[in-house]
Amino acid sequence: MSSTSTPTASPRPGQASLVRHAARVLGAAARAPFWLAGVAGADKSFARNPILGSPALNRIGLHVGRVRLAARMAEHRRARLARRLDPADRAAFDRDGIVIKHDFLDPAAFAALKAEIYGRSFEARELRQGQAVQRMVPLGGRALAGLPHLRALTEHPGLRGLTYYAASRAGEPVYYLQTVLAEPDGPNDPQTALHADTFHATTKGWFFLHDVAEDDGPFTYVPGSHRITPQRLDWERMQSIAARGAANGHHAAGSFRIAEEDLAGLGYGSAVRVAVPGNTLVIADTFGFHARAPSLRASTRVTVHTYIRRNPFLPWTGLDPKALPGLRGRELALYLGLQDAKTRLTGRGAPWRPVGAVAVDAPART
Ligand SMILES: [Fe+2]
Repeated sequence: MSSTSTPTASPRPGQASLVRHAARVLGAAARAPFWLAGVAGADKSFARNPILGSPALNRIGLHVGRVRLAARMAEHRRARLARRLDPADRAAFDRDGIVIKHDFLDPAAFAALKAEIYGRSFEARELRQGQAVQRMVPLGGRALAGLPHLRALTEHPGLRGLTYYAASRAGEPVYYLQTVLAEPDGPNDPQTALHADTFHATTKGWFFLHDVAEDDGPFTYVPGSHRITPQRLDWERMQSIAARGAANGHHAAGSFRIAEEDLAGLGYGSAVRVAVPGNTLVIADTFGFHARAPSLRASTRVTVHTYIRRNPFLPWTGLDPKALPGLRGRELALYLGLQDAKTRLTGRGAPWRPVGAVAVDAPART
């Protein structure tokens, strides 16, 4: 066959662009149900979900509507969880969005917990973000076997009650040992910018195993910024309209950054540094603005870290499928396993690199 017959098998340039356009439309149609499900759930990325990122929809209030509805649902769920709390803790949380509990364990239990954690190595992963390396030792499933003091902490009714209230839902929290190794001379750590984690009430908590000083890069929080104000809603609307094209990838992904000088305009005060002694529990709603203060010296901070994430629009506080036998305590392991599989298939993702067995306070391996 002559070579002149082959060009008829390929589309002409105009046809090729038509084919590409049709493929894009079909691809979008196939993904639309997932985008819509994301709108009805916890999806927050303006860059990845074109419905959430639509400037037109956000001009008419899509994002602000989600913020308001999620806040109302959280308020209802918290009212039902309040009986688990000391009324003083509840009042502090409702006012500030953060509760700081000094001397959380009795001295003997705290000493035993430290001896248990510092006396061994753990299979860990690390993530480098600018000047800081985070080390994570997941504590789900069998990881707590042979660690009775750590297990007791993860099941502590006081810790659970506060976590549930801050998260506005019960269920199975994720726990891991978290080490933050800060190098003051390194490039910027993105977590040092004040930000909200997402558009709805959600919690992070830390039980501190040792003292964290003012210049060790402590957690900072803007008290009261977990509450929406009319100014905050206006600000959320403005951010949402332009967010999908934001230069800052975290902002575009729905974790809005804010400049310290803009806080007053939203009706909030300044950020405070949460420098605490060991044996302190800190539970915060990270819809409130927070950051990690830059570390002025090389520092190592070890905590037992916890969080709960669920759909912000569900009316109930329990019914957590992740608490079922077989899944209980495995949320983080499943997430990491999925990330590893994605990396193997696509060559991208999985920033939490396995580093083998290390002591929690060992130097960074990443
Ligand atoms: Fe955060």
